[in-house]
Amino acid sequence: MLLKARICKRAYEAPLTAMSEAVDYVALLTAVPSVLVVGDESFEFSLGLAEAAAARGKSAGRWLCATAYEAAPVDAAAATRAAELGCLGAVVRQGVDATRLEGMHLCEPSIQVDWIPPPAFGAVVFNFPYVVVEGRRPRVDDNRELLVKFFASARRVLRPGGLVVVALARGQGGTPADATAGTRRDAYQNSWRILDAAARADLVLAAAGPPQFPGNYAPAGYRRRGADRRIADSYVKLSVAHVFRPEGSCMPRHAVEFAHDLSFWLPAAAAVDEAFAACPAMAPADGIDDAFAACAAAAAAAAGVGLLAATRTDAYACPTTGRHARTYRAVIASGRRACSKHRSSVVALEITRCAHEGLRFVPRSYANEGGGPDD
Ligand SMILES: C[S@@+](CC[C@H](N)C(=O)[O-])C[C@H]1O[C@@H](n2cnc3c(N)ncnc32)[C@H](O)[C@@H]1O
Repeated sequence: MLLKARICKRAYEAPLTAMSEAVDYVALLTAVPSVLVVGDESFEFSLGLAEAAAARGKSAGRWLCATAYEAAPVDAAAATRAAELGCLGAVVRQGVDATRLEGMHLCEPSIQVDWIPPPAFGAVVFNFPYVVVEGRRPRVDDNRELLVKFFASARRVLRPGGLVVVALARGQGGTPADATAGTRRDAYQNSWRILDAAARADLVLAAAGPPQFPGNYAPAGYRRRGADRRIADSYVKLSVAHVFRPEGSCMPRHAVEFAHDLSFWLPAAAAVDEAFAACPAMAPADGIDDAFAACAAAAAAAAGVGLLAATRTDAYACPTTGRHARTYRAVIASGRRACSKHRSSVVALEITRCAHEGLRFVPRSYANEGGGPDD
C-alpha cells in the first residue's frame, strides 16, 4: 500500500529535559581495548587522553590511534604533540577521512599483526566534527551529511559492542540532552539530527551529557587561534558528548520521539464485528480505540522500536454520508532498534497497514508535511 502518513512537525512531544549525566572520556575510553580518534586537528585531545591513561597505568601502545583530517600538522604545536603521542606509543596518522575509515591502513603494518586487526576498534571518537568546504561557509546540511557518513564508516570499523563518541556544541545534536528552558520544540528538526545519522548505522544513543575531557583539553576547533582560552572553556561547558552503541546492546537514552497522525474512515459496525471475529486477539475490551492501540503496539514491537503513545486525537462524523473517521497519534522512538525519522515513518505505515487489514480501517490520504523520508 502506498500511503503517506502525516508526520508531526514537532519532533517530540515529551517534556524537554536537560537531565543528563556527565560523560567521563578517560573512564569510558580506558575501559575499551582500542580507541580511534578522528578529526583531531591539533592532537590536544589525543595527547590529553594518552597522558591521562598513562597516569592510570595504561599505555597508549596498542590502544590509541590518533588521526587528523589535514594532510600535515596544522602548526608546530600540533607537530610536537604528534611526536609526543608517538613517544607514548600511540599510532598517529594525518590525512584520515572520518567518512572513509574502512580500508585505511591506520595501524603500523608491523604491529597490525599482533595489535588491532582493523576493522576492530573498541571506540571511535570524533570531537566537534565540522565540515571544511572550499570556497564557501558550510551549511547545516553539510554537517548532517558528515555525521551520516561518519557513523556509517565508524560502524564498519567498530568491534561488536563498541562505542562511538561524538561531542557537539549545545544545540547541534538537537536531542533532549541539549535542551534548556529556552529550547524550541522544533529544535531537533533544525539541528544536525545526530540521532537520525546514528540510527542509519544502527546505533542508539546510550548516554549524553556535559563532557569531562581529559587533562587540559579544550576544543581547539572552536577557538580562534591565540584567543583567550576562556572562550574555548566556555564551549566545553556548553557542549554535549554523545555516546552511541549498537542497537540491541543498551537501553536508548534521550530518545527523540516522532509523532505521526494517522487518520482512517471506520468501517460500518458490522464490518468491525466481522474483523474481530476473524482476529479475536484484536477484539477490544473497551472499544475500537483500544483495538487500534493493540494493533500499533504489535507493529512497533515487530519493528523493535518503542511505541510511546497511540491515542485518539480526533473523531469526526460526516453529516452527509454518516461515515465516521478517527485520527490517532502514534508516538514512536528508539527501542531495541534505533529509530530515525525515516524508520519511524516506515513503522507508522506498517501500523496503518495493520489497522487496514486487521480492523478494516480505511486509511485517508495525507500529504507528508515532513517532506522527504530523511528530511
Ligand atoms: C571544529 S574542528 C574540531 C577539531 C578537533 N576535533 C577539536 O576538538 O579541537 C572540526 C574538525 O573536523 C575535521 N573534519 C572535517 N571533516 C572531516 C572528515 N571528513 N574527516 C575527518 N575530520 C574531518 C576538520 O579537519 C577539523 O579539524
